[in-house]
Amino acid sequence: MAGTGEVWPHLLRRLPQIASITAVDISSGMHARAMDRLHAHRAHKIAFIEDDVLASDLPTESADFVVSTFGLKTFNTAQHQALATLVARVLKPGGSFSMIEASDPKGWSLRRLYLFHLKRVLPMVERLFLRGAQDFAMIGTYSTNFGDASGFADMLRKAGLETEYRRFFFG
Ligand SMILES: C[S@@+](CC[C@H](N)C(=O)[O-])C[C@H]1O[C@@H](n2cnc3c(N)ncnc32)[C@H](O)[C@@H]1O
Repeated sequence: MAGTGEVWPHLLRRLPQIASITAVDISSGMHARAMDRLHAHRAHKIAFIEDDVLASDLPTESADFVVSTFGLKTFNTAQHQALATLVARVLKPGGSFSMIEASDPKGWSLRRLYLFHLKRVLPMVERLFLRGAQDFAMIGTYSTNFGDASGFADMLRKAGLETEYRRFFFG
């Protein structure tokens, strides 16, 4: 779910030994637009595979690492299962993975305020300041439907991967 590749600059800056990143997304149009608008100067470091990660032919044991940012929340449980199986299959032995997602902080005292921010403030800010963009229009709804990544972490564990689940509220 590489999308706009928001994580690539950070990865390449932090880990200069990364020779190339392979972006995987179901939409080649999304990728082409992202490359054009945001990544033209690092195009030599970005390869692309158009692929549905829920029915994927990505080669087994082909990836040194797998990274996904904010691609989990729109999938349901069966789809998370397919994705966990894929991550375990494509990683090389000793490879690593990292995924991050917006959650619904159930039980947290500031939950209502936080959900107000996700569902109302963020979409309004982007409408006003990003020329009517709607990228975050559904983020609150998707996040509450998703819950949190602990269930997905369990699936990764069951797929045989050593998995650590971390929360990033308050940093
Ligand atoms: C919310 S974006 C993820 C954000 C992204 N990491 C970024 O930096 O912009 C979701 C992306 O997942 C892609 N996607 C959705 N379903 C997919 C699937 N089954 N297989 C591969 N990519 C998928 C969409 O095309 C979209 O680019």
